[in-house]
Amino acid sequence: MRGGLFVFPATIMNALEQLVESARADFAAAGQPAELENAKARFLGKTGRVTELLKGLAALPPDAKKAQGAEINQAKQRIETLLAERRDQLGQAELERQLHAEALDVTLPGRRRGTGGLHPVSRTMERIEAIFGSMGFDVADGPEIETDWYNFTALNSPENHPARSMQDTFYVDMKDAEGRWLNLRTHTSPMQVRYARAHVARHAAAMARGEPMPEIRVIAPGRTYRVDSDATHSPMFHQCEGLWIGENVSFKDLKAVFSAFCRRFFETDELQLRFRPSFFPFTEPSAEIDIAFADGPLKGSWLEVSGAGQVHPNVVRNFGLDPERYIGFAFGMGPDRLTMLRYGVADLRLFFDGDLRFLSQFR
Ligand code: DAH
Repeated sequence: MRGGLFVFPATIMNALEQLVESARADFAAAGQPAELENAKARFLGKTGRVTELLKGLAALPPDAKKAQGAEINQAKQRIETLLAERRDQLGQAELERQLHAEALDVTLPGRRRGTGGLHPVSRTMERIEAIFGSMGFDVADGPEIETDWYNFTALNSPENHPARSMQDTFYVDMKDAEGRWLNLRTHTSPMQVRYARAHVARHAAAMARGEPMPEIRVIAPGRTYRVDSDATHSPMFHQCEGLWIGENVSFKDLKAVFSAFCRRFFETDELQLRFRPSFFPFTEPSAEIDIAFADGPLKGSWLEVSGAGQVHPNVVRNFGLDPERYIGFAFGMGPDRLTMLRYGVADLRLFFDGDLRFLSQFR
């Protein structure tokens, strides 16, 4: 059958064929690499069945040795091929098992960190700053722990004046470096004086040369404090001060500026404004500014949004300016109130409770 001189006894051919088949079966039965290596040893190892057959050749005459040797080696090669195939299969299975175990399901929606949002009052503050900014107003910031002098005295409320009791506050048993009593500021109005004095100092040299002072045009938003607590008052609340001082700034400018602000803030031209006579120590004349909406749930009722007035000569003097030459207006509005009106919130305290169920509605 090899075409050679020797015809192999059928029994040996069969035996080799069976050997290959039994190796194939053993390899297939090995489910693990270690089992496969054991099976390999049984056939190809030092005392394995193929090795034993090859050792047996030694006793044969040369021709038979050559022919049988070739057949045995061929069987050995087939077994080695089967072994390599099974190794591949097991390796592939192991790889698949690992891939499966470490599988990443990229179609699962990710776990995100919740996004926060601006507090509704912060939104209002930003709107106020943007609107006044577009009208040429600077934005200033100042201390919440304020001296008695800036908070009251400089604003024309002398010590023991009854007007001080309009703004009961939190007093601190502490004085600043110059010996002035400190309290939590009751309004942002002290920023009028702080800003104006800094402005005057900045332009002092030019003014001394006789040049006119550039107009003061500023808003000062921030936190303020009073001993007050109900649905429309909180011990900590917000105000935004406004100040415009020049040589020819009048009440009509106040009306124009404040009306323009309200219309842009509430995004309606149908808004009505009313300047109702009032009293503040630091303005003369003084007014409360009320607004009324032409429609919506608040239609028709007057709502107070700001105090305002022409800056009192004594205050202008405390700015470091001559009240005979410099004149203007100021206002102090409540951003919390504006936020309540804009979003239809009935209780001011909701803004400061920190309840996310409420706050997340404004995201
Ligand atoms: N500071 C006043 C208050 O808190 C509000 C105010 C009224 C501010 C009139 C002003 C003003 O600038 O001109 O009640």
